[in-house]
Amino acid sequence: MSEAEIVRLRWWHIERLLQIEVELFDSEAWTAAMFWSELAAGNYYRLAVDGADILGYAGLAVNGEEAWVNNIAVRGAAQRRGIGSALLTDLIGEARRRGATRVALEVAVDNAPAQRMYDAFGFEGVAVRRGYYQPSNTDALVMLKDLTDE
Ligand SMILES: CC(C)(COP(=O)(O)OP(=O)(O)OC[C@H]1O[C@@H](n2cnc3c(N)ncnc32)[C@H](O)[C@@H]1OP(=O)(O)O)[C@@H](O)C(=O)NCCC(=O)NCCS
Repeated sequence: MSEAEIVRLRWWHIERLLQIEVELFDSEAWTAAMFWSELAAGNYYRLAVDGADILGYAGLAVNGEEAWVNNIAVRGAAQRRGIGSALLTDLIGEARRRGATRVALEVAVDNAPAQRMYDAFGFEGVAVRRGYYQPSNTDALVMLKDLTDE
């Protein structure tokens, strides 16, 4: 397990978080405005931190019975230490607390590491969205986890 602590993402973290976003997603990185609007919408966002260092972040939107993992990211140097799993566990817990019966997400079809993590959490591929990621035009796999059968 990691030494990371999971804390609430606040607006003043956004500038530093964008460095990780660009490192990981390059031309498809979210902008500051997108994170601002996620917080303004009341979506659930958490950071993984080690002291003052931001190691990763993740966000969830809940609409009725359906929760969506809007993003999950761990900076390259901190990957493979259980931080992504800790963030995802935290989001799933919040989805349950908010009464969701399923959690969904989109993941690039060529993103094997992330898909492996989602598989391990019981997510299953249910659909493909053609050209969802732009400008790369990569397809997205929609994955779903049922929260009612546990
Ligand atoms: C996907 C991501 C969040 C996982 O974060 P992480 O902290 O490395 O994840 P964990 O250490 O908790 O790993 C959980 C499992 O995922 C799988 N996994 C993670 N990275 C992997 C890799 N590089 N290769 C193969 N499997 C990998 C493994 O099954 C791993 O379990 P294990 O270490 O016991 O074998 C991280 O790789 C990341 O930020 N990637 C870039 C951004 C991204 O793709 N986000 C998802 C968008 S949908």
